[in-house]
Amino acid sequence: MKQDRGAWRSKLGFILAAAGSAVGLGNLWKFPYLTYKFGGGEHGHGAGGFVIIYLMAVLLLGLPVMIAEVMIGRRGRLNPVGSFRALRPGTAWKYAGLLGVITGFLILSYYAVVAGWTIEYIAKSVTWEYADYDAHVSDQAVRDRVFSELSVAPAGALFLKEHGLIRDTADASAVQAAWARVKTDKKYANLLKQAKKEFFLAFKTRFRTQRALKHAIIEKKMEIYPASLFERFLKNPVKQVGYFFLFMLLTMLVVIGGVSGGIERWNKVLMPLLLLMLFTLVGRVFTLDGGVRAMRFLFYPDFSRVTFNTVLWAVGQAFFSLSLGMGALLTYGSYLPKDAKISKASLAIVSLDTLVALAAAFVIFGSIFTFGLTMHGSGIGNLFTAVPGIFLHMPGGRFLSILFYSLVAFAALTSTVSLMEVAAAYLIDEHDMSRKRAVLIAGAAIFLLGVPSALSFNLLANARIFHLTFFGLVDFFSANIALPLGGILIAIFVGWVLTAREKHEEVFEFPVWLYSVWDFLVRFVAPAAILVLLFALLTGRVSG
Ligand code: PHE
Repeated sequence: MKQDRGAWRSKLGFILAAAGSAVGLGNLWKFPYLTYKFGGGEHGHGAGGFVIIYLMAVLLLGLPVMIAEVMIGRRGRLNPVGSFRALRPGTAWKYAGLLGVITGFLILSYYAVVAGWTIEYIAKSVTWEYADYDAHVSDQAVRDRVFSELSVAPAGALFLKEHGLIRDTADASAVQAAWARVKTDKKYANLLKQAKKEFFLAFKTRFRTQRALKHAIIEKKMEIYPASLFERFLKNPVKQVGYFFLFMLLTMLVVIGGVSGGIERWNKVLMPLLLLMLFTLVGRVFTLDGGVRAMRFLFYPDFSRVTFNTVLWAVGQAFFSLSLGMGALLTYGSYLPKDAKISKASLAIVSLDTLVALAAAFVIFGSIFTFGLTMHGSGIGNLFTAVPGIFLHMPGGRFLSILFYSLVAFAALTSTVSLMEVAAAYLIDEHDMSRKRAVLIAGAAIFLLGVPSALSFNLLANARIFHLTFFGLVDFFSANIALPLGGILIAIFVGWVLTAREKHEEVFEFPVWLYSVWDFLVRFVAPAAILVLLFALLTGRVSG
């Protein structure tokens, strides 16, 4: 039964695979999207509060729980269910493992949808579709864009005041409300027309020559096009399901190949390449106008808007980004040799993961601010709408764009593989299946579960549960509830159930003081912090 399990060829193999699991769309897509959302979205005020809470969650909860999770896997040497059972036979702890297996199913079902987007974007980079902006963006769209930009600027407030719609131009929410009325109420149709005209005139007079104006309009088109391409893509149900299906197939192929074959080898080359690419972009963004603003947006601490909701999302994101709380790292840990140092490996993984998330967010916001991509919509497509702006302004942009989205796709693949591996290992170990059969069954089930997520941006866009689309609901539930819950169970198991001797054997490298700090965090801090959040959630203090 065990011959279908695998083993890492080297200690580095584990670190690379675990880092491959951790670094993925959570860093490149979701972290920038959440910083956008908690940074005030369209009316951006800065994401410092969210980012700092996230960093604290990574350090105080993520790192200690990661050590605990890998420890369970290495001692149990099985999938999550089997490992818990092996360590404490005959107890209900195996259900903690089962929760992880189920969470993995849920996450993969919508994660692979977003992963599918990367394939479309490799294709769009190959055809260099975003460079066709001139032919595809109408002058009207440029006018509308200018209008939406100026309406949120001081000029917009002034216009409202002149027409008696607001009293105080500094009252941002009144301005917002008044524009909402003007845009929707038929009564104001003429006024709206007039505003659009006036604002465009104001825009035009900024330029001294006809040529400068023309150039500015072209720039605007260049900004608008990637966003409209993305929106169009989301609205296409066939593409959404098709790419999702394709990505599931890719994942299944790799997982059938086994842990030490494909993943380990490719990881060694492509992970460093992703880092190199990302840091090239970071360097590039530093030379752009928006770089400093992006830094400020991300790091300037502003806790005035932090709520329970912010904290819950930050903690959920920490678990999500580090692949914690559902047994992915537990399963990878089960292939880890006894003499490898769990704490060092964990620290390396956590550092790398955090670095990548911050770099991605910096690149994306740098681009948004530099190219005046007024942040609009939910921000869910930032990775796909903001980054092309940089490539359009860069020599060799087309090639770099192909490379970039290929690397993003690969980063996503190493994460989907780790999610699938949990389900596969469970079926192989617990239900005596062959690897191939396990993967086929799990893959088919996950695909079916994910179809409504793939349709959440088009056919099912208006089907809401708790105000969320199906995609949003699965994301919220799995990342913000199931993973932290899994995290508590792991922390309690290692903190309170495993004996000190068992723990010492696993983190033999810890000096006494460090062991005490870690043990304290696992025993008290992690369970308490997460319990408070889940309690707040149950009592209705937070929402999606
Ligand atoms: N950590 C992965 C990412 O950031 C997602 C993931 C979550 C993978 C949970 C495995 C388990 O993209």
